[in-house]
Amino acid sequence: MPHPSDQSTLRSKVAAYFQLLSEYERELYHDPDLKREPPAGGKVLKSAVSTPAKGLNPYPSYAPYDSLTAMNESISGCLRCGLGPTRTKFVFGTGSKNARVVFIGEAPGAEEDRRGEPFVGRAGELLNSMLREIDWRREDVYICNVLKCRPPNNRDPLPEEVTLCEPYLHEQLRILDPEWLVSLGRISAQALLRTTAPLKALRGVVHRYREKPLWVTYHPAALLRNQNLMPDAHQDLLTLQRMIAAGAYQP
Ligand code: URA
Repeated sequence: MPHPSDQSTLRSKVAAYFQLLSEYERELYHDPDLKREPPAGGKVLKSAVSTPAKGLNPYPSYAPYDSLTAMNESISGCLRCGLGPTRTKFVFGTGSKNARVVFIGEAPGAEEDRRGEPFVGRAGELLNSMLREIDWRREDVYICNVLKCRPPNNRDPLPEEVTLCEPYLHEQLRILDPEWLVSLGRISAQALLRTTAPLKALRGVVHRYREKPLWVTYHPAALLRNQNLMPDAHQDLLTLQRMIAAGAYQP
């Protein structure tokens, strides 16, 4: 077991390394005046996956970024997993940079893929109205997904897609530093908590994710399918609101 001071030295070395990598990437992919020379010999290799135009980085750094805006700009050309080439728009996340609560769904659906914003379809409208019922506004919280790109036909995220995309969520949470996290639905909760437990076992318990309290509630799409679940979902949000007001589980 390394000594705590060795651990913090290691952590700052890793942070410095990633900082350098981000600066390098910014220079390479975002400086419009930077002239890239063709490789020596002049032969350009054809890649199996065509990279997006305008210098978007297909393998962006996971961390660190100075802001959510800088991060979104840097990672929106990501082609790390098989979903990259199939998406219409990268769905980074939306909301307040001062949000105390971050809601995390599983992955963008068709409407989100078209518009580049999470929870903007029918499920999103229901989420907005559920927030309004507890006097919260969508603009005051932050909303994102475990995956930033839509899986074909809205299938569940694959474990390798979660592995490749989740570090982006980690960095978003590092920048936002919220007080609470909320998993919207079983898939999000199971992916983040590395469990196969059913939703009924995951609701009503304060979990931990990235050292933050994580609350689990129904996915709004499940509520659209079964309106009988609405009172329980409303109660979940009220309980969350009370825990926040009581200052429970302060990080
Ligand atoms: N479902 C999700 O999990 N996320 C969205 O953004 C939309 C629907």
